[in-house]
Amino acid sequence: MHPLLRDVHTHLIPNVDEGSRSLSESTWMARTLSDLGVRTVHLTPHQFRMGNDYPNDLIEEHTRHLSDHFRREGLDLELHPGAEYLLGERLLHALKRAEPLLTFAHGSPDHADPCVLVEIPLREPIVAVDRTALLFRQRGLLPVMAHPERVVALASDPARVLGWVEHGWRLQLDLLALVGAYGREAERLARLYLGEGLYDFVGSDLHRSSQIPMVERAHQEFRRLVNTPREAHERL
Ligand SMILES: [Fe+2]
Repeated sequence: MHPLLRDVHTHLIPNVDEGSRSLSESTWMARTLSDLGVRTVHLTPHQFRMGNDYPNDLIEEHTRHLSDHFRREGLDLELHPGAEYLLGERLLHALKRAEPLLTFAHGSPDHADPCVLVEIPLREPIVAVDRTALLFRQRGLLPVMAHPERVVALASDPARVLGWVEHGWRLQLDLLALVGAYGREAERLARLYLGEGLYDFVGSDLHRSSQIPMVERAHQEFRRLVNTPREAHERL
């Protein structure tokens, strides 16, 4: 499956986190993704951050509601309920107590791993990344790190991410990083990691309709880069 067919990271549920502010804004963003060829969209509101602690069934209910709405609007999109869990005390607690987390399947029909989208604090010292991967593995879950290219500490040590992959993390590219939405360092790392084939997933991390022009450029740039010969990429 082409990676762009599935967007595993969006904030399209209106008025749940700091993402979409209305049903019409969500529809506009969803239509953009659909026009770009995306077929599956994961709805991943922030969880365990700024006090957010939504029951899974609330996110599932929002997903059904949005699916119905998009269908009536003529959009052919498959929506999945999900979450972007912040790596911190609350997530570690949830893992230790075996609380059910919202997952998505990755792999072949015979063997699919349940994946969980996790963001690590972007501007803080990095702690507990390896230990968290172990806790996920012990529960039979595969942790997917949201936008590692935006982690400030990696700018001076880009190869550090290789150790995380070795410990079991999978990586999700924030497409907008490719077009400079998060600064030069994030763009450099995104291109570097993409060239190294380190990403298993892509996502737009779409919050606002104002990001639509960037999403369009980012899809175009991703297609161009994956068709660029490997030797033309900067190496780790
Ligand atoms: Fe996000």
